[in-house]
Amino acid sequence: MKITELTLRRPDDWHLHLRDGAMMRAVLPYSSANFARAIIMPNLVPPVVRADDARAYRDRILAAIPAGHDFTPLMTLYLTETTNADDVAAAYEAGLISALKLYPAGATTNSESGVRNIERILPVLERMALLGIPLCVHGEVTDPEIDIFDREAVFIERVLRRIVDRVPELRIIMEHITTEEGVQYVWEGGPNIAATITTHHLIINRNAMLVGGIRPHYYCLPVAKREQHRLALRRAATSGNEKFFLGTDSAPHLDARKESACGCAGMFTAPNTLSCLAHVFEEEGALDRLEAFASLNGPVFYRLAPNETRIRLVKRQTPFEVSAKIGTDEGLLTVFDPGFPLYWHPDIADTANPGDAVTNTRT
Ligand code: NCD
Ligand code: ZN
Repeated sequence: MKITELTLRRPDDWHLHLRDGAMMRAVLPYSSANFARAIIMPNLVPPVVRADDARAYRDRILAAIPAGHDFTPLMTLYLTETTNADDVAAAYEAGLISALKLYPAGATTNSESGVRNIERILPVLERMALLGIPLCVHGEVTDPEIDIFDREAVFIERVLRRIVDRVPELRIIMEHITTEEGVQYVWEGGPNIAATITTHHLIINRNAMLVGGIRPHYYCLPVAKREQHRLALRRAATSGNEKFFLGTDSAPHLDARKESACGCAGMFTAPNTLSCLAHVFEEEGALDRLEAFASLNGPVFYRLAPNETRIRLVKRQTPFEVSAKIGTDEGLLTVFDPGFPLYWHPDIADTANPGDAVTNTRT
């Protein structure tokens, strides 16, 4: 029998960029309508480095959540070579932060304050391991000699293995894995290693970005790889394996910043992520594992209870439309176009889901 309705525990997003100010006010409702919690990335300018920064940022997010939405931001601190282990410990013990984020310096958007020398952060990592604080890792080397499509695989060999050797008790999330090598490393790794997978990396390969003209709205970091890697990510996400869970990496940038001679990396997927995921899991014959990926596996790794409330996804007879662009006080923002029609609709009041309006098809 064809499944046309799915009830899931309310999902969480284990990797989300909410930005700040006008942009945050514009994008936050799309996440808070559909997700109960999200790990909030700290790569603001300036970055969220200290406990006080995280507290202030959390309060700005809480103040911007639309009435009627039940959403908890799980804050992270941006790890630098001068991060103070006592400040981290105090922030964690006060319940203010859920993880730290390691950006290799220069690897991605706003990562200039990131880490150059892993040796310098070992004392903080050791303290985190003692306290059970997870480390979220942007796993790409920045060595200019390394081809951008190989940077994740090389990071695993050169950096991740070293961190795991030095601090084996540290719980690590390889964020937004994009390669077979990433899947394999996490699959075979011990219980302290997990990974998030984005919606878009399950849907596009690098052709989407490069064939028929350069398409800046399909540019993100880590950059989409070849088809064999997309297929490996699909196998991991739909396997039910507890080590893999959803982190959308929804990363909005204004169109003017994306459609540029030097366009920013990041895709804005929050408005249609759940509909896209249901489509992918249906294609893989794995609708019964969507809940594990989106709602159950993340809480297990983060040692939190799964959400008690449920959401319903309903498969419509005809495709529905999602806004191609969102207005912000600073300009327009393009929503991720999966290149296929969407049928799976989150069954929540339309006012709660601001995303339905104008058609979007990849051309
Ligand atoms: C993210 C951003 O814009 O902040 N960009 C992206 O392409 N994913 C940063 C990141 O997660 O690498
Ligand atoms: Zn990100």
